Amino acid sequence: MLTVHVEGRDAIQAAEGAKLVLALEDSGIDVLHRCGGNAKCTTCAVEVLAGDAGAMEELEAAALRNKGIEDSSVRLSCQIRLHGDVSVRLIKTAASTGLEPGTRPQP
Ligand code: FES
Repeated sequence: MLTVHVEGRDAIQAAEGAKLVLALEDSGIDVLHRCGGNAKCTTCAVEVLAGDAGAMEELEAAALRNKGIEDSSVRLSCQIRLHGDVSVRLIKTAASTGLEPGTRPQP
């Protein structure tokens, strides 16, 4: 199992290869995923503070570019498959925005 440190919250455990967005949600964190994990909405974005979140594919890069997000530490949690421990900071949550989380992404 891998460890995901979430700033301001307890660390969570996740399986190797799990999508970060689902690891967060399945641990009770109210992460948003308004487009259902399709790299369109960017509401699932997190700031990666430490650890290797893996290479960014063009789909993710294009979504961030289209929203004017240029900070390279900001990643879409729906596009990250965990292969090591990471530390992240949540950017938006259901509680902080008042939005419904959205359709659950595919595993
Ligand atoms: S970009 Fe929409 S859920 Fe990740």
